[in-house]
Amino acid sequence: MRLIHTAAEIEAFVQETKTAGRTIAFVPTMGALHEGHLTLVDLARQKADVVVVSVFVNPKQFGANEDFDKYPRTLNEDAKLLETKNVDALFAPSVEEIYPPEGVREQRAGVVGSTFEGASRPGHFDGVLTVVGRLFDLVQPDVAVFGAKDAQQLFMIKKLAGALYKDTEIVTAPTHREPSGLAMSSRNRYLTESQKTSATALYKALKTLRQPLSLTIEAARTLIDSTPETKLDYIAVVDPEIFRPVNDDFRGKALAIVAAKVGDTRLIDNLEIELTEPNR
Ligand code: PAJ
Repeated sequence: MRLIHTAAEIEAFVQETKTAGRTIAFVPTMGALHEGHLTLVDLARQKADVVVVSVFVNPKQFGANEDFDKYPRTLNEDAKLLETKNVDALFAPSVEEIYPPEGVREQRAGVVGSTFEGASRPGHFDGVLTVVGRLFDLVQPDVAVFGAKDAQQLFMIKKLAGALYKDTEIVTAPTHREPSGLAMSSRNRYLTESQKTSATALYKALKTLRQPLSLTIEAARTLIDSTPETKLDYIAVVDPEIFRPVNDDFRGKALAIVAAKVGDTRLIDNLEIELTEPNR
């Protein structure tokens, strides 16, 4: 595995790969890798000749009061895990390499970018899309793999790729969970054992949602609010095509989304659900 730290080096690696007629599958991450990330790498391995993984904790997607400084940085362990997965290149750049003084193309997340995660974390999705755009410009992937775990992020990255990176296919990896149902996340390592138990309430609550949503969402809210150390941010059901809430008349595939703080740690989760006539 090649360990690459600079923009110039990754550009040269990409040039070499393309000249040899080989395709590139790309997995962008912020590191602190867990089994969920590794399922993305496995999927990438199936999709192209060469797999590139990036590890970059992107300052632009963290708010002033968020965990940028204390976000776990475990590059040596990450590199070891990626070696076992036959990754061809690990791109671990500095902030200066990603955001050089001459500037980069800034992306704007638009209206959906200011709802749900974007409402609680203003500017977050502008930062996510800007870094993903910059990384795509450098890596020029044929395929890029993202997790369903971050549903709103995935929705917006698909829009970005559809508009500006038409040659990059966006592939989705299903959410990887602990046996308890808790969605794996780099931030889970902040949780105490009792908080980990509390955190399972998010997935449990999502599984209770059905029509009529006005009633079941209220019950799900109560379930989360009555869980120790847990403070709900939002729980909602959206139309996956537009990422806007559906009402009690909606039938068909929908996406249930939730965000809550457990202790000081903000967690998100989501679940695809099929909405049918309510049982009487
Ligand atoms: P990060 O949180 O490190 O996640 C990297 C990728 O792994 C994302 O596509 C995310 O959806 C996926 N992922 C995380 N946990 C997962 C799980 N339990 N199951 C399946 N996939 C999972 O998301 C980011 O980093 C950043 O915002 C990034 C896109 C890299 C831009 O900075």
